[in-house]
Amino acid sequence: MTLLEIEGVSKSFGSVDVLRGIDLTIEAGSVTGLVGDNGAGKSTLMKTITGIYSVDDGTVTFNGEPITDLPPGERRSRGIEMIYQDLALAKQQDVANNIFLGREPVKRLWGLIPGYVDKARIDTEAQQMIDRLGAKIPSINRPVGYLSGGQQQSVAIARALTFEPKLVIMDEPTAALAVREVEHVLDLIRQLQKDGIAVILISHRLNDIFEVCDRIVVLRQGRLIADDPRGETSMNDVVSHIVGAA
Ligand SMILES: Nc1ncnc2c1ncn2[C@@H]1O[C@H](COP(=O)(O)OP(=O)(O)OP(=O)(O)O)[C@@H](O)[C@H]1O
Ligand SMILES: [Mg+2]
Repeated sequence: MTLLEIEGVSKSFGSVDVLRGIDLTIEAGSVTGLVGDNGAGKSTLMKTITGIYSVDDGTVTFNGEPITDLPPGERRSRGIEMIYQDLALAKQQDVANNIFLGREPVKRLWGLIPGYVDKARIDTEAQQMIDRLGAKIPSINRPVGYLSGGQQQSVAIARALTFEPKLVIMDEPTAALAVREVEHVLDLIRQLQKDGIAVILISHRLNDIFEVCDRIVVLRQGRLIADDPRGETSMNDVVSHIVGAA
């Protein structure tokens, strides 16, 4: 089943054409690797899916409905989540609070008047989310700033899951991680796929891409120049597409 369809998407910043007529289809529950040189347009393309950027031309369809003109919040509520490279976590707050950041359940007095933040509920639900994901977090009450890069990535994924996404876009989730942590994040991606969630993984690390992705898409200078199932391409092919060798 087609989950996301991008047709003829173009985007310029001033006189720079960053995306040029991109066509891309994402199947429900698939894991797609998105690769390309620095400045190829990967992050920009993803932001046209989340609605951070509007498009100059083209359409974006999600779950069979046009979303091209919808604001980011509306797209999120339809099931599109993006985890940014900087993760956007509150480092001094604990794991549980980060998972519910900005949406803390509030206890209501007499079931009516908003009272205080329900920390017990936050902790319980955060723990459930961590367990469901199988993330390796020492304690949900540890400040996120004390966790390793991989554990912080897990917290960001758990947070994304609380929005019940159909698509999770991850921008360079393994860039700064030690080897064992990379493996853990790749396991989490497989877990999302098992749960029927589609993933778009942006990475410069082709080993990671070839390990978890069903399909590999290459952008070069704002154009989509390759889109192949993993079994029908090779690391050499992908590198050639990225750098533009014949
Ligand atoms: N808000 C913006 N305003 C102006 N130019 C921008 C903006 N965002 C991105 N660009 C430009 O668009 C081009 C593509 O950037 P983008 O961040 O999409 O590349 P990328 O493929 O994600 O690269 P990287 O691998 O380095 O993250 C670059 O030339 C960049 O300078
Ligand atoms: Mg980028």
